[in-house]
Amino acid sequence: MKYAFLVAGVLALGIGAVSAQQDIVKDRQAQMKATGRALGGTLSAMAKGDKPYDQAAVDAAFATLTETATKLPALFADSTKGLKEGNEYSSSPKVWDDKAGFAAHIADFSKAVSETKAKVKDLDSLKANVGAIGKQCGACHETYRLKS
Ligand code: HEC
Repeated sequence: MKYAFLVAGVLALGIGAVSAQQDIVKDRQAQMKATGRALGGTLSAMAKGDKPYDQAAVDAAFATLTETATKLPALFADSTKGLKEGNEYSSSPKVWDDKAGFAAHIADFSKAVSETKAKVKDLDSLKANVGAIGKQCGACHETYRLKS
């Protein structure tokens, strides 16, 4: 009886750990979706003239991108290798098999975000500089993101 209880407890702990890892995958995807809205829905939309230039919205978009850059390492924690959510995209095992390469992409992305943020003051400077960020998204996705 005592033993059965113990086994149940250990199993519950195991399940708890798995769902905590699965939560990281969900957080990762939510953060990437927010990143997509910040770039596509705000910055690129303004640069293309689909939305009027709005400095407060630009600042909020850069805050999201900065947050993404900061959170990226933890969102790809070792314990999440191979885990998926039923979603359009998933992560390539290369994220964990080529950690140095992945870390280099995070560093390049962070640099592009902070440099671009410092340059964007108005519509013209947004138009001239927003491409530098999109380039980094694409460079990382090309190798490390899979279409599920
Ligand atoms: C350092 C690598 C890296 C960078 C930089 C990066 N991404 Fe991603 N992104 C990924 C990976 C890997 C996935 C797949 C995550 C998963 O589902 O496990 C992803 C997923 C996504 C998704 C799909 C989210 C979903 O689940 O529907 C969007 C949208 C996205 N990224 C947008 C962006 C945008 C926009 C940028 C740039 C502003 C960006 N990403 C920068 C690696 C990166």
